[in-house]
Order: sequence, then structure tokens, then C-alpha cells
Amino acid sequence: MSACGTSSPIRRWTALLRQFHPDIELTLGQMPQATAGPICDAAIEALRQGKTHYPPAAGIDPLRQALAKWEQQRRGWPVVPEQIIVTNGAQEALALCCLGLLKSGEEVLVQDPCYPGYLSALKTASALAVVCPQSADFQPDCEAMQRRIQPHTRALILNVPANPTGQMIEPRRLFRIGQLAWRHDLFLIVDVVYEELSQRESALAVLRPFRDRLILINSFSKPWAMTGWRVGWLCGDVSVIKRLVPVHQALVSGVCSFAQYGALAALRQDPEPLREQIADNVRVMTSALTCCGLRCPEVQGGFYLFPDIRRCMADDRQFALQLVQKQGVAVLPGSLFGQRGAGHVRLSLCGQRAQVEQAAERIVRFVTSAAEKPAVQTTPPADSR
Ligand SMILES: Cc1ncc(COP(=O)(O)O)c(C=O)c1O
Repeated sequence: MSACGTSSPIRRWTALLRQFHPDIELTLGQMPQATAGPICDAAIEALRQGKTHYPPAAGIDPLRQALAKWEQQRRGWPVVPEQIIVTNGAQEALALCCLGLLKSGEEVLVQDPCYPGYLSALKTASALAVVCPQSADFQPDCEAMQRRIQPHTRALILNVPANPTGQMIEPRRLFRIGQLAWRHDLFLIVDVVYEELSQRESALAVLRPFRDRLILINSFSKPWAMTGWRVGWLCGDVSVIKRLVPVHQALVSGVCSFAQYGALAALRQDPEPLREQIADNVRVMTSALTCCGLRCPEVQGGFYLFPDIRRCMADDRQFALQLVQKQGVAVLPGSLFGQRGAGHVRLSLCGQRAQVEQAAERIVRFVTSAAEKPAVQTTPPADSR
């Protein structure tokens, strides 16, 4: 069982690595480009039209309607606007679920490795994260999950496709997890913020029989390069939404009104060019790293590559520190995402192709030279461990 502090280890390590002045950063999960013109224009137009007043707490009507339609098309089951809350990004949606549905001391199953934001959201509600180690190929271990369920377990959190591993959950496994949630009366919180940037279909349709306990967490941040807008959404059963809206209102009142009009315009933009750019970057990096002997799990969705670096160096934190010092490339140690992430590093590949090619060349140089001579140990500051 573990819980971490509220300050993000991703941001802490990014700041630490920046002290070495990297000229290539593959750390943060955000696109370098600005949000597309039509999305910005829609927000500006809303401002000009005076849409500057308090929005309804759960979101403006046209956006809730559009999101319900969008969810219905993707999931294949009926979704009504009353099942949607527009949130300040996926992170608020996660914290909202924890604050609105969990009591202090109740437990939630999380995967190891996982996005550290789950742990900080749970901590905010004084709930406990119960870590479930994934299999060697980064799939949830249903038996391990079942063994960890207690009378005070209330929910489980999944991420499809996953940060940091890039993996989808196999349909049969997902169905078994749905059965677990149903049998033990758990909320099934599924974070799908990378779904639109996937190379293949997610198997979420298998969760249809369990949809009354399913809470989908989504965001405009990644597919539409809108990380700074802070707009996301949550889709769940009407009974869950009724519990969460008052908490959302108490916390934030609502989401910036003109940002919501921008988000509405985003739904009309196809993220295909970004998907292609990412697929290209992933191909370039995977082929370079595989050629120099690093095992790379196939990226099935999202834009993170999670190579196993143990053939080159046992300690992923040392790898990240030495790589930034010797080659000016910043990547994140996999152990920031949980013990099962140790021996891996996370490369965020949503940037420009030329930069990814440069980074690939330098990482190969680093791996090749580290294989030739024993590594010099560099001690990271204690607060970064
Ligand atoms: C898996 C996952 N969920 C949620 C978030 C939070 O996204 P948002 O910007 O919408 O708050 C992130 C951000 O990186 C993420 O990787």
C-alpha cells in the first residue's frame, strides 16, 4: 500500500533534469505546438459575444450535449447529457471522483506502474492507493487485484491506453476486471485521456454490462494540444453525476465559460495529423532503440515509449541523470511511475520528428558507449528520489 505526496514527481524530475540544461526534453506529456486556430477562434468569438458569465456548474449545455453524443458514438451504448460533467482537465475529474465518492481510509486499486496523478488525487481525499503490480508485459494482473480487494475497497482505476507503458488492456482481461467491479460493488474509474491518440481501438465496449459503475475520465489536453486550457470531462451513471456535481461546484464553481466554447469547436477537429506525427515518431525511436539492444514494448496508444534499459544500466534514475549530462536529452526514470517501472525510462514522443531523430541518435550513442565502459555513478539530490 502506498501514497505519495501531492507534488508531482514528473514535475520534480523535469525541474531536476533542467538544471543540466538539456536541449532536448522528452519528459512532459504535452505537444509543443499551439492549439489549432479554429479552436482559439471559437473561444475568442465567445469572449466577443460576452459569454463571460458564470457557466452552469456541470458545463454549458451545447458542450454536454456534444460530449454525450461523442461518448455514445464511441461506446456504442446510450449516453445522455445528464451523464456528463465538464471539469478542469482530467486531473480535476480524478480528484472529484475521489472527493465525491470515497471516505477517508477507503481503498482504491491502482496499477503499478501508473500515472502518479492518481496517487495525489487519492491523497487529497485521504483515501488509500492499493498498488497492484502488472505482469511483465504491462497488463493488469486480475488475480493480484482480486487478492487485494477488502470490505473497504471502493473503486479501481485503470488507464487505457496507459501512461507510461503505452499498452491497451486485452479485452478478456478488461471484461474480468468489469466482473470484479460488479461482484465487489466497486466504482470502475477508467482514464481514457490518450484514447484519441491510439493506433488501435480500445476494448472498452466489453464493459457495457458494467456501465452503471463505469466512470470515464477524458480530456481535451492531449488530442487537441490544449493542456493549458484545463478542460476535461467525466461520464458516468446519472446517480454518480448527481453526487459529484455539488462537490465540483464547491471546488471550482464550473469551468471557464469561453474555454468551453473552444472545447466545443475542438470536437469538430480530427486529431488524425497528430496521430500520424506520433506514429512516425514512435517508429523512428523504437527502431533506433531496438537496433541498439533495448527492448521496447509496442506502443498501442498515446505517445509514450517505455524501453527497458537494464541491458545498458540497472538503475533508471542513473540512466536519466547520465543521459542528460552526457547527451543533453531529458527523459523520465520509469520508477517514478511505480516499482514495476524500475529499469525503464519514459520517452514522451509528441514533439517534432527532427527532434525525435536527434534524440534517438544521441540515446543510441549513450547506450553504445555505456555498454563499452562502466558507468560513473551520479547521486541525485535526496528530495528527488
Ligand atoms: C493518464 C493521465 N491522466 C490524466 C492526466 C491529466 O490530464 P489533464 O491535463 O486533462 O488534467 C494526464 C496528464 O498527463 C495523464 O497522463
